[in-house]
Amino acid sequence: MDILNGKEKASILRAVEALEAGDIVAFPTETVYGLGAVAENPYAVAKIFEVKRRPHFDPLIVHLDGPARLKEYVTDVPGEARRLMKVFWPGPLTMILRKTPAIPDIVTAGLPTVGVRVPSHPVALELIGTLKRPIAAPSANPFGYMSPTRVRHVARSFADRVPIVLDGGNSSYGIESTIVSFRQGGIFVHRHGAISVEELSEHVRIIEEERAPGACESPGELPYHYAPMKPLRLVTGPSDARHEASSYLAFRQPVEEVRSRHVRVLSPSGDLREAASNFFSALIDLDRDDVDVIYAERLPEKGIGRAVMERLRKAARKHPPSGGPQLVE
Ligand code: TXA
Ligand code: MG
Repeated sequence: MDILNGKEKASILRAVEALEAGDIVAFPTETVYGLGAVAENPYAVAKIFEVKRRPHFDPLIVHLDGPARLKEYVTDVPGEARRLMKVFWPGPLTMILRKTPAIPDIVTAGLPTVGVRVPSHPVALELIGTLKRPIAAPSANPFGYMSPTRVRHVARSFADRVPIVLDGGNSSYGIESTIVSFRQGGIFVHRHGAISVEELSEHVRIIEEERAPGACESPGELPYHYAPMKPLRLVTGPSDARHEASSYLAFRQPVEEVRSRHVRVLSPSGDLREAASNFFSALIDLDRDDVDVIYAERLPEKGIGRAVMERLRKAARKHPPSGGPQLVE
């Protein structure tokens, strides 16, 4: 894999050439790194599923460089969607809208809808703008693993299988985009992400819906996504984390002694945005061979903290205490 400086025009041109030839290219966004292919090329998109080992029922997000050509790809755009685009695009908000035939079925896993967003990262915008075509891209991680927020995460996962990654520095949000769909004059949040529900609710009505247990309307909302290899346990503080062969993910600077072998602090001052931006990187770092368990402190569930907690809960569900490896604590 070639790691190219995304700020250089020559790198963008090489990436565009690869995309036009039907290859896949990893690129930075403000949320996490993506693994992209020309959205209109079903053969190229198929490579993404193959390389990520992603099940074909899990649809991809289509990235545009602005709303100008939106009508080529989606129809029936409600007023609420237009309003949100004005406020949050470019930025980490994905909207699920009805697709046109220009979007191949493989992108949407056969669904009549497509998730679209305009990323705000300058390298992503430059790439899409130079290509002049939309890019379908999931996060650039093996399926089910944690999302990459640093170029080295991508290089480690796909060294032999992806020809190019554009280096755009660390992802500033560090958490994936918020995904919404439109119904009954409001929005439904499919995935909590970088734009908080509080921010969205200033502009549109949020429809809260009780879903039947096990129901999963957004096909990618599998019960365990974003998970480290080692079992993860949610804790309130260091006193809940007694096993020493462990990693400890602290929200803020711990005041009590932490007995774990490896410790990472998401935000010494307890700032939720800073915590989110360090989240995946810290968790990837703590997922080590010499530990039996990762303890992760609960975060306040407001703002972007809700998105982080959603991911921690999913990670904790991968190895439930009853079925998973027994820990001596
Ligand atoms: O921040 C992000 O959104 C990153 C960057 C690269 O843009 N992308 C990302 O993609 O997180 P991915 O593939 O890891 O997650 C996309 C999720 C899918 O798992 C699926 O649940 C949902 O988006 N999705 C996509 N299209 C959908 C659709 N038509 N209906 C319902 N859910 C959809
Ligand atoms: Mg993903």
